[in-house]
Amino acid sequence: MSRPVTWRKDDGLAVVTIDNPPVNALSMAVRQGLLDVFRQIRDDPATHAVALLCAGRTFVAGADIREFSEGDPVAVDPNGIFDLIEHLGKPVLATIHGTALGGGFELALASHYRIALANARVGLPEITLGLVPGAGGTQRSVRLMGVRPALELMLSGTPIAAPEAMKKGLIDEIVEGDLLAAAKAFFSRLPAGGEATRRASERPIGDAETALADIESARQELLGKSRAPLAAARIVDCVSAAVSQSFAQGLEFERHQFLASVRSPESAALRHIFFAEREAARIPGLPEGVQKHPVAKVGVIGAGTMGGGIAMNFINVGIPVVLIDMGQEALDRGLGIIRRNYETTLAKGKLTREQLDARMALLTGALQYGDVADCDLVIEAVFENMSIKKEVLGKLGGLCKPDAIIATNTSSLDVDELALATGRPQDVLGMHFFSPANVMRLLEVVRGRQTSPAALATVMALAKRIGKVAVVSGVCYGFIGNRMLEGYLREAELLLMEGATPAQVDQALEAFGMAMGPHRMMDLAGVDVGAKVLIERGKAGGLPADPAYRSVIQTLHQLGRNGQKAGVGYYRYEGRKAVSDPVVDDICAGLAARYGIARRSDIAAGEIVRRCLYPLINEGAKTLEEGIAYRASDIDVVWTSGYGFPARLGGPMHQADVIGLAAILEGMAVFARRYGNQYGYWEPAALLQKLAASGQRFADY
Ligand code: 3HC
Repeated sequence: MSRPVTWRKDDGLAVVTIDNPPVNALSMAVRQGLLDVFRQIRDDPATHAVALLCAGRTFVAGADIREFSEGDPVAVDPNGIFDLIEHLGKPVLATIHGTALGGGFELALASHYRIALANARVGLPEITLGLVPGAGGTQRSVRLMGVRPALELMLSGTPIAAPEAMKKGLIDEIVEGDLLAAAKAFFSRLPAGGEATRRASERPIGDAETALADIESARQELLGKSRAPLAAARIVDCVSAAVSQSFAQGLEFERHQFLASVRSPESAALRHIFFAEREAARIPGLPEGVQKHPVAKVGVIGAGTMGGGIAMNFINVGIPVVLIDMGQEALDRGLGIIRRNYETTLAKGKLTREQLDARMALLTGALQYGDVADCDLVIEAVFENMSIKKEVLGKLGGLCKPDAIIATNTSSLDVDELALATGRPQDVLGMHFFSPANVMRLLEVVRGRQTSPAALATVMALAKRIGKVAVVSGVCYGFIGNRMLEGYLREAELLLMEGATPAQVDQALEAFGMAMGPHRMMDLAGVDVGAKVLIERGKAGGLPADPAYRSVIQTLHQLGRNGQKAGVGYYRYEGRKAVSDPVVDDICAGLAARYGIARRSDIAAGEIVRRCLYPLINEGAKTLEEGIAYRASDIDVVWTSGYGFPARLGGPMHQADVIGLAAILEGMAVFARRYGNQYGYWEPAALLQKLAASGQRFADY
């Protein structure tokens, strides 16, 4: 295998190249290579300066995250290498293109100088993996940019553009063109014998009083945030050590915190999600080298909230969109909402007027379906009703150009049946966007029985281009996410009839980490929307014979309590504020009496969480054994990116592995005994039983 770190002499300049595709991660081999190479350069009298470059698409994008689970992240200690670099006795210049992140940026910070292309980005995103920067990042960043900006950089985890990094003192120069030529030019301007080896570790930290005040205010802010990652407090502690201790002591403290963060369940879960999101893009059974279609123009049918949000995804990345609606008024309203959304972003300073105009220029409204004839992808986002969708798709089948992909944005209907309506089912798949479609990261891509590999591969690649995390689902009721939601909502409602209040259930699940409890979520999504889906499903014979099944939502709907937009639902609303409403408790008590459900007052938060979580896991296991989901990690991605499941718990299937499958089975058996299992609610999935019996985890499946 070729060596990932090499060097050559170029007229007294040592040119070091890191070449470790795909992202030049600072793996053990790279660390060993850097150590060897820098020792050689230190001892070579013929070189007097070093340019550090990376091959491929990026500078070092961080430590090799896989080593955190599989190996020893500090074998061949990066701090030892960085110390060697800082004390090399020859100026070292890091030349940055692409992204310099985490350990990669720490390598650049340990170098004496940094130059970057204007479109490069730098940052310390470790917190997004539940980690503390572990190779001097917390100590050197503070010395270069000051306490407050360094805290901002590390606590947000968001990379910043090179020009901004230069303003903040992290980059010395923005350069253009060839980085080696730029490095040579940089060195030619360095004063001989001047600041030849300036070290970030030796820079003074500004005024101690201000620094301590900034640290204190960061601590206070964290105290106010119930969902702050655990690594956040560790990062603040490291910065505090940087201010109050020597560099060496601070580094030692940081190392300790870093290793503790690597071992934390939070980081294990976030790393799981990092890889799960990337794994989801790999589709089993696709032929090698399948040709993707170019997508230069997109059509969206239906200018409602969903259609408008979908259209924004494409114009945001420069793909022209034709938005179709049947009536001028509806079309104008849809176009107006899109413009207003952008105006709001403009007002927040996150978009310029030129960008807004450029995006709106990519959007055309039209009243005729024929206007999508030259589109490469057409997505229907009309009313969720089988016969309406079939009619629309039938028209599209005849109108769209050959090879164009036709997608349905259904959230529950049978994609195979819809595909047949087009007369060209090989071109059809589901693109299930989540509301608001321009904001939510998840896209469920529903692979029909006849969907062509090319259509599937094209849409998966396109999803990445529009910034979505896409997960493939097979065809079944509700696909992966909404199908699993059913059991979760069933228990949430049964708990209400047993005597819990909506607030009690929501608070328990929010304390567990869900972004929003189920009842607040239904109120926001619309009680009417949820009830209608249920009614349709009932008509199709898809509901259990249980007369109490989801009877709370149906009753609320009958009473016109359609959620936040109606001012009443599971809660009463004062503006956007949800207030407990005793009327709902009375409704639930009435339903309990009608269906013979015993009321009780001993419902604890732990029971609420387990009652709602276990059906989720059980249904997840069923989607896996049926092949609807390809992997347990895909299910985790669906739930963390589309349903507010906390990423720091790694998704329901990862959580199941953490809890232990045998313990879950046992818990389900207890619930079956206690509350009855007449309708099979607590019947364990065969896969869950099989894995538990053999001591395996979902991660092994
Ligand atoms: N370690 C190991 N593998 C990594 C990696 C890393 N740090 N970063 C990316 N990869 C892998 C991905 O898993 C993916 O592999 P695959 O092709 O087999 O699925 C491949 O590299 C390409 O990654 P992306 O698909 O994400 O490519 P993009 O071009 O979309 O994004 C990126 C590139 C912006 C660099 C993005 O990959 C990224 O954000 N990476 C993580 C950066 C990060 O968090 N760094 C900090 C790590 S922790 C650390 O450094 C600790 C230190 O302080 C000691």
